[in-house]
Amino acid sequence: MCGIVGYIGPRKAYPIIIEGLKRLEYRGYDSAGIALFDGKDLKVSKTKGKVADLEAQVEKEITTTGNVGIGHTRWATHGVPNDVNSHPHVSNSGNLVIIHNGIIENYESLKLELISRGYTFKSDTDTEVLVNLIEEIQKQDNLKLGKAVQVALNQVIGAYAIAVFDKNKPEEIVVARLGSPLAIGIGDNDDEFFIASDASPFLEYTKNAVYLEDEEMAIIRFHKGIKIRKIKDDSVVETFVQELQINLEQIEKGGFDHFMLKEIHEQPKAITDTYRGRLLRNEAIIKMAGVEDNMKKFLNANRIIIVACGTSWHAGLVAEYIFEDLARIPVEVEYASEFRYRNPVINEDDVVIAISQSGETADTLAAIKLAKSKGAFVFGVCNVVGSSIARESDAGAYTHAGPEIGVASTKAFTTQITVLTLIALRLARAKGTISSSDFRTHLLELELIPKKVEKALESDDNIKVISKIYKDAKNFLYLGRGYNFPVALEGALKLKEISYIHAEGYPAAEMKHGPIALIDENMPIAVIATKKGHYEKVVSNIQEIKSRKGKIIGIVTEGDTQVRGLADHVIEVPETLESLSPLLTTIPLQLLSYHIAVMLDKNVDQPRNLAKSVTVE
Ligand code: AGP
Ligand code: GLU
Repeated sequence: MCGIVGYIGPRKAYPIIIEGLKRLEYRGYDSAGIALFDGKDLKVSKTKGKVADLEAQVEKEITTTGNVGIGHTRWATHGVPNDVNSHPHVSNSGNLVIIHNGIIENYESLKLELISRGYTFKSDTDTEVLVNLIEEIQKQDNLKLGKAVQVALNQVIGAYAIAVFDKNKPEEIVVARLGSPLAIGIGDNDDEFFIASDASPFLEYTKNAVYLEDEEMAIIRFHKGIKIRKIKDDSVVETFVQELQINLEQIEKGGFDHFMLKEIHEQPKAITDTYRGRLLRNEAIIKMAGVEDNMKKFLNANRIIIVACGTSWHAGLVAEYIFEDLARIPVEVEYASEFRYRNPVINEDDVVIAISQSGETADTLAAIKLAKSKGAFVFGVCNVVGSSIARESDAGAYTHAGPEIGVASTKAFTTQITVLTLIALRLARAKGTISSSDFRTHLLELELIPKKVEKALESDDNIKVISKIYKDAKNFLYLGRGYNFPVALEGALKLKEISYIHAEGYPAAEMKHGPIALIDENMPIAVIATKKGHYEKVVSNIQEIKSRKGKIIGIVTEGDTQVRGLADHVIEVPETLESLSPLLTTIPLQLLSYHIAVMLDKNVDQPRNLAKSVTVE
C-alpha cells in the first residue's frame, strides 16, 4: 500500500512528481524515492522517511531536470523501511526502473531462480525481484519492454500497480494493475501523461483520466498516446477516458490545521450531500437507484451480511441495529479479513453489503469476491467513486463525503451511517415494517441532522478543556449501549489511532463482566448516555463507575441534569431519534481524540504505522 506517481511529457517531471507524492502520502509514508531521466542518464534518489525528507535530499543528490520520471511513497510490506528498500528499484543492468504498490507473493521462488542465473539483490523487497524478472525475460527473448512486463506479470502471484521504464527508451512508460489502483491522467493533445494511485497528483493539469481495471496494462508513449491490453491474453482494451468531478480545493486543508479537523467540520455538509436527491421529505419517499433496481433481492433476502474493516466495520455494526430495528431483516456484521478465510455459509438468498471509504481495502475486496462466487448479491457502500469495491459490487450507493485525507476516518463514518439509514428506511417502507408517520418522522429528523451536527461541533472549547485534563492518561474506556455501543468502539479506535493511548470500547453493561476491574481514580471513561434508548440503565452503569472512583465524561442530551449530577464532565449533543443518535454522539468523540493527539504533539493526519487505504491483506 503506497502512493505511486509518474510523468512523461513536455514539462519538468520533478515538481509534478514531488508534489504528487505529497498528496499521496496518506497511502504510506515510511520511505520515499524518485527516478528521473535527465536526458542522458537515470538519476535515482530515495530515503527512509517522508516526502519532505526526500525533497530535502533530492536537490543535493541529483539533477532534477528531465521530462520523464516516477516516484513512490512507501508503506513497507517486504523489508524494513530504510533507504535501500525504498522504491524506485533499478534492475541489475541499471536500465530498468520500477515503482510498485502491492505484494508479489511468490517473490521468493522467483528470486532464487534469478539468483541461480547470476542476479544479485540489494534490497529485501519483492519489488526488486519483479524488475529483475522483467529484465531477464526481456534479455532472454529479446522482447520489447511492454511484452517483457506482460510475460513477467503472468508469472507473478500477488497484487500490484506498477510503473516501469527503460532508460534507453525514455519516451515510454509501461504500467499495469492487479488489485491496487492506478489512474492515468491525459493531458491536452495526448502529449503528456500522468500516472498516479489516484487522481489527486494531476488534478491541476487535467480532468481527463483513464482508470486501469484489474489485469490490464498500458503502454504510454510520449506523443503517441496509450495502448491498453489485457495482461493475460494480450487482447486490446478500448481506452475509456472519464472526466473527473473533483477539484483541488476539495483535497486541500482549507484553513484548518489538519485534514482530520477539516473533515470533522465538513460533516454537516457531507451528510447533506449524502442524502441530497435521495431523501425527498415533501414527497415522503427515499430514492436510491441501486436499491430500487434490486428491490426484489433485498426483500427476498434471508439475511444481510455486512463486511468491512475498521471504522467501516463500526458503521456496519450501527447498521445492524438500524436494519433489524426498522426493516426487520436479520443482519450479521463480519470483519472482512475473518470472513474471507473461514469458509462462511453464503448462498444466493444472501445480500452482502460491503462498506469501505476507500473502496480499495484488500480484505473487503476479497470478501465480496468470495460472496459473489457463492452467488450472493453484493451491494457496495463506498466513498471513492470508481474504486475497486464500487466496481466489483453488483450495485451500490456512494456516500458522497468528498475526499477523506486524514488517516483517521471521520466524515466517512457518519456518511456511511447516513446511507445505511436511508437504505434501511427504504426497505422498511417497502416491507411495511414502519408506519407512514414513523417513516416521515425519520425523514424529518434525518434532514435535521446536519444542523444538529453543527450544534454538536460547538462543544469544541469544552472538549479542549477536557482533553487537556486527560491527555496524559495511559488508558481510556468508552461505554455505550444499543445504537451507541458501536460509537463507543469507534471513539476508542479514534483515540488509539492518533494519540497512541490505549483505549477500549465496551457495551456499558458488559463492564461488570471484566473491564470494571480496570477502573480506579486514574481511569477516564467516556460514557454515551443520551436520553433515548437505555438511558436509565446507562445511568446505573455510571453509578457503578462512580463508586469505583473512575473519571466520567458523559456524552449527554442537551439539558440533561441526571448524568450532569454524577459525571465529572459532560458534553452535550442535540436530541434526536435513538436510531440517528450515533450521527451526533460520534462528533465529540472525534474531537476528543483530535485534541488529545494535538496536545501530545502527534502526527494527526498520518499516524505511525497506518495508511489510509489498506490495499494489502
Ligand atoms: C479508520 O480511522 C481507520 N484508519 C481504518 O480502520 C479504516 O476504517 C479501515 O482501514 C477501512 O478502510 P476503508 O473504509 O477504506 O475500507
Ligand atoms: N511490497 C512492496 C514493498 O514492500 C511495496 C509495498 C507498497 O505497496 O508500498 O516495498
